Amino acid sequence: DTAKIMHREKVEKINAFLSYKHISPELQKKIRDYFDYLWDTRRGHAEESVLTEIPHSLKLAVALEIHKDVIQKVPLFKDANDDFIRDIILHLQSYIVSPGDYIIRAGEIGLDMFFINRGSVEVVSADESVRYAVLSEGQFFGEMALVLQAPRTATVRSLEYCDLYRLDKGTFDNILIRYPDVASQIEMLAQQRKAEID
Ligand code: CMP
Repeated sequence: DTAKIMHREKVEKINAFLSYKHISPELQKKIRDYFDYLWDTRRGHAEESVLTEIPHSLKLAVALEIHKDVIQKVPLFKDANDDFIRDIILHLQSYIVSPGDYIIRAGEIGLDMFFINRGSVEVVSADESVRYAVLSEGQFFGEMALVLQAPRTATVRSLEYCDLYRLDKGTFDNILIRYPDVASQIEMLAQQRKAEID
């Protein structure tokens, strides 16, 4: 079918460029695997590029449909009111990670947080000798640096392909001022997690 042919052409073009640039075979394989995942989970479409093509007046309605799954899965969203969802939804950026990718490194400055729509990640100490937690579908991470105004408290690595949604700090700060209930839920979890690793 046409979609499959278009996807294959895109991947071939990218592969040709990577070979031309002498990118290592391992990295080339990782990139090919990523496109396979993109095909398997969303027929090759990156959500953002689809949304940018949609007229502004319809964007919110389309985003609500596209991101329905994450709203259902993340308890924080599911329990929140419609205004909150409408305020946050256009700011969620789809973010796919490959197995073993570092999403967050301990000690860095934190400028975003992540919601897990599919897949799982491990939270480990800076030297990776202690595993604090495994997080999966519906959970979030990266909130501590934002809430506690501190460097990243731990390293977060993907255990498999993950579909994440990324929320930038600017939006996070703006939205939480307007939704104190949600803010206090996130703050409570951040404090709990802090106590666990202290
Ligand atoms: P942050 O400090 O921004 O970056 C690392 C993230 O790991 C942190 O936010 C939390 O989201 C997560 N994290 C840290 N400690 C724990 C823990 N004990 N249990 C679950 N998640 C944690």
